This record gives sequence, C-alpha cells and structure tokens, in this order.
Amino acid sequence: MKLGGQTLPNRLVLPPLTRSRAQDDGVPTPIMVEYYRQRAGAGLVISEGTVVSAQGASYARVPGLYSDAQVDGWRPVVAAARSCGAIVYAQLWHVGRQAHSSVQPDGCPPWGPSPVAITGWQYRSPHGRIPFEVPRELSEEAIAEIVAQFAVAARNAVAAGFDGVELHAANGYLFDQFLNSSSNRRTDRYGGSVENRLRFLHEVIDAVSAETRINRIGVRISPSSTWMDVFDPDKRGIYSELVRGISERGLAYLHLVEPGIAGSLDTNPQDGAIESAELGSLFDGPVIVTGGHTPRTAAAAVGAGSADLVGFGRLFIANPDLPRRIQAGAELADLRQKGLYGGGPAGYTDYPELQSSN
Ligand SMILES: Cc1cc2nc3c(=O)[nH]c(=O)nc-3n(C[C@H](O)[C@H](O)[C@H](O)COP(=O)(O)O)c2cc1C
Repeated sequence: MKLGGQTLPNRLVLPPLTRSRAQDDGVPTPIMVEYYRQRAGAGLVISEGTVVSAQGASYARVPGLYSDAQVDGWRPVVAAARSCGAIVYAQLWHVGRQAHSSVQPDGCPPWGPSPVAITGWQYRSPHGRIPFEVPRELSEEAIAEIVAQFAVAARNAVAAGFDGVELHAANGYLFDQFLNSSSNRRTDRYGGSVENRLRFLHEVIDAVSAETRINRIGVRISPSSTWMDVFDPDKRGIYSELVRGISERGLAYLHLVEPGIAGSLDTNPQDGAIESAELGSLFDGPVIVTGGHTPRTAAAAVGAGSADLVGFGRLFIANPDLPRRIQAGAELADLRQKGLYGGGPAGYTDYPELQSSN
C-alpha cells in the first residue's frame, strides 16, 4: 500500500488520539516519546490533535506546532513513532467555538464562523459544568490569519520530521463548523453555498501545500456525526462535494470516521447515516476508516474494497502492540477509563505488551 508516494509497512493506522500529556505550553514531553514508540508497529501513525495556535486550543496539555520549543519537543516523538518503519503524519487542529474564554489568550469568548453557541453544557476545570459560549464571529482578516497559522504549523511539522499533515475537519471543530449550516450562518464568501462553505478548507489546503507537497496532506471528516451541534439538511451533498474536491487535487488520503461514533464515544448511527463506502468511492486514493473496528471487521472492510487502511483508536490505546497481537491471533486487552486524558504513565504507557512464549 502506498500513500503520498511512500510505502506503508501494513494497513493498520494509529488514529489521532488526544491524551493530554504535553506541557502546559504545548511542548511534547518525554513520556510521549515512550507512548508513540510503543505504538510504532502501525503502518501509519497520525499524531494526536495538535493545535496551530493557542487560540485554537480548548483542552489542557494538548501539544502544538506553533513554537520552536514545540518543534524541538516533537522531534524525538516523531523519531520514536517511525522506529519500525511507520509513516508519520501530524493532525493539525483548531477547535473554533468549542473553546472557552478561560483558555483564550485574550480571555474573551472563542472564535467561530458565526455567533451561534453549542447547546448544552461542557465540563471545564476549574469551573465544573458550564454552558458553551457564543463565539465571536471571525472576520475575513481573522480567517486569513488562521489559514496562515495552518501553513506555519505544516512547515513546523516538516521541520519536526513528520511525513505529512492531516487536517482535522471532523468532530464539530472549526472546519466542520464552516461546513455545516447550523454553525455557519455567514452571508459572505465563506457561507451560504456549498462552494463557499468549503472555501476555508480549500484555502488551508492551498496554504499548506506551499509548505509540503499536496500528496502529503490528508483530510479527516465525520460525515454522519452531529456531535457538538453540527447539523445540516444536506450532509451528503456537502461531504460528497468535499471528497470530490480533495480527490481532484490529489491529496494523500481521505480519513473517514464511521457512522456510530460521536467524538471519542460510540453512539447509535442516526437515520440517513452516510456509509463510508459511498464517500470512499468518490476518492481516487487511499481511504482510511476508523470507528468501532475489530480486526475481523477491518479485514472485511479491506477485503470488500470499501477501505484501504483501518484505524483502531481505543484498541490501540489498550494494546500498544496491536499489529503483533492481530498477527498472532492473541487476546486483546480492554481500555481503562482512568488516565485516558492527562496524568502520568498510568493508563498511558503502562498497558503491557504481549509476552512472547519463547
Ligand atoms: C481518548 C481519545 C482521544 C481522541 N482524540 C482525537 C483527536 O485528537 N483527534 C481526532 O480526530 N479524533 C480523536 N478521537 C477519535 C478517534 O480518533 C476515533 O475516531 C474514535 O476513537 C473511534 O475509533 P475507535 O472505535 O477505534 O476507538 C479520540 C478518541 C479517544 C478515545
């Protein structure tokens, strides 16, 4: 299997998994080197969500790619991730309206395409349960600044040793907020028609492709998810157009989150869920599917030709040597909730590897 002109050692993917072990300033830490080294048996390693600016961050201790110290911190992590021959991509992330004034550099509400808050509550230390805020509407100049931040982050990713970057256009974050009409009420050239709502993504691809080749950019989408209030009466139309567009441009891969996943959790697929095979067939290149897969369903998806590569999120957290276990037909360990986000080695680097019998 080839991806971006590089040969993958296998079809297993470590998908992006936020684990909140970076420093408070977004610099990767030595324990992250160990975590990625343990999971280096994947064919493709995609980093945890990595923010392009402080403004684009929401959660504590997520890594960034916007400072020299962050680039230096990533170098040993990337080297560890490729120690068994994996291809390594950085997932570039801006959370948009999912952030909060308490973590914005200027202490004001977060930014989004339109001043529409997510309904419901969020849990945010040290405030506890609080409502989401009405975001500030991004001006065209502010959008251009974010586009430029993605380009700098991509340049930094290359400097840190990554083979390419994945744009995080899934799970209701900033790209997704532009794509869906519930969060994008704009009447300028970034809102209204599908072409306009896709503009931000294509501008970022333009800018990033000046820093890394176009076939080293992947895009991740969750076309069936409404998690974090991203609704639209025509999701099929929007995401089909998106996939056709990135296919024509020759991107590295399409990464699809399967229906039945809401962010990091399982959910009942909604009526009108869009099958990955349907969108995947519109992409002329490698298609990755992630979400709820077991080794058996993954083999079936690849065998049926509906996917080229399969991501295992929670299974890869609990089984650092997942490819070896699958090959050996060994039992798979269960995920522990404790230590999923933040903390030290417990629940992070202390999942045991398979004991070899000789
Ligand atoms: C702890 C955790 C953190 C996650 N962080 C990210 C992230 O940073 N970026 C992203 O696109 N998806 C993230 N996800 C979603 C996973 O990439 C994946 O889509 C999801 O877990 C479903 O796959 P699975 O059923 O194989 O676990 C996260 C999931 C979990 C469990």
